[in-house]
Amino acid sequence: MPTTRIAITGANSAVGNVLLTEIANTTDTSAVAIVRREGALEELPTGSSVTTAVARYEDGAALRAALDGVSCVVHLAGILFESRTTTYQSANVETTQALVEAATDTGVRHLVFISSIGADPASPNGYFRSKGVAEALVTGADLAGTAIRTPLLLGPETAGGRALVRTASQGSTKTLGGGTHTLRPLDIDDLSAAIFAAVAQDQPADRSVHDLVGPTGVTYRGLIEQMANLLGKDVSVGSTPIWLAKLGAGAAGLFRQGGMTPDVIDVITSSEDVPHNADGDLDIMLTPLANTLQKLVQA
Ligand SMILES: NC(=O)c1ccc[n+]([C@@H]2O[C@H](COP(=O)([O-])OP(=O)(O)OC[C@H]3O[C@@H](n4cnc5c(N)ncnc54)[C@H](OP(=O)(O)O)[C@@H]3O)[C@@H](O)[C@H]2O)c1
Repeated sequence: MPTTRIAITGANSAVGNVLLTEIANTTDTSAVAIVRREGALEELPTGSSVTTAVARYEDGAALRAALDGVSCVVHLAGILFESRTTTYQSANVETTQALVEAATDTGVRHLVFISSIGADPASPNGYFRSKGVAEALVTGADLAGTAIRTPLLLGPETAGGRALVRTASQGSTKTLGGGTHTLRPLDIDDLSAAIFAAVAQDQPADRSVHDLVGPTGVTYRGLIEQMANLLGKDVSVGSTPIWLAKLGAGAAGLFRQGGMTPDVIDVITSSEDVPHNADGDLDIMLTPLANTLQKLVQA
């Protein structure tokens, strides 16, 4: 019989998919997978431990109904790329605000929020700022709140994992600033383990904001070269100056909303090094980068 009932928002996301696949094969946890549109239901893993709910964040009653009987919510809904219909404010901040309110009203004990390395409510960068504001909503709420800040996530399901394989297969590619910034890519299965560990901490310790990065620092250029090597390909990595990319993105922004903006360029070229990695605090074993890349090859 399942003993812990959790809710997962943005359940059709890459991370949600991995979490739900695991829950579908366990008996000690059950989950309600929350999505905001009917069409997303088809994308969800199924199993006797998984039920589903469609709830829009503007609809407090639907959110509260979905959270009935839930002890912990894992909040995954969020974006890096804005669009004509979705902004950092609506996707990253307002979803969190609505969820905190619904969770508090329904007696949920704990909310686990997936944030980003670099999140800061005072950041001049719109993405980092929105994640920082959302973190503050979660950790300042009248329930236990945990934020896990993550770097680039790699797994066959993630946009970053797919882009890396595509880029490394191309023969030649251009990277922003020569790809010299340091990444600490995290295996999506390790994030899944970290989320389960956080959920199990019913009374989270004083450190409620965790920076969780992968075990190895690597430049983006180095990552592409390692991936190409594993794929048995040769890749020549060139450079586009960051200032030029931002100029182009700024000009494109005059005609469209979102996409590759100067803010996104800053995010994806930021260093992901952290002063303290939370793998020990969350008691998880990190997957070596080479094994994570191997999973991408085998997918
Ligand atoms: N992937 C990474 O490398 C990475 C790095 C750092 C942090 N994160 C964070 O980790 C979380 C999961 O990432 P992921 O890559 O697994 O996500 P993903 O696959 O890109 O899925 C995004 C999810 O957010 C939902 N969403 C988008 N706009 C929304 C809005 N305005 N209102 C409500 N829901 C909205 C989407 O629902 P629809 O399908 O209905 O649009 C989808 O369920 C996100 O919060 C992300 O910011 C990811």
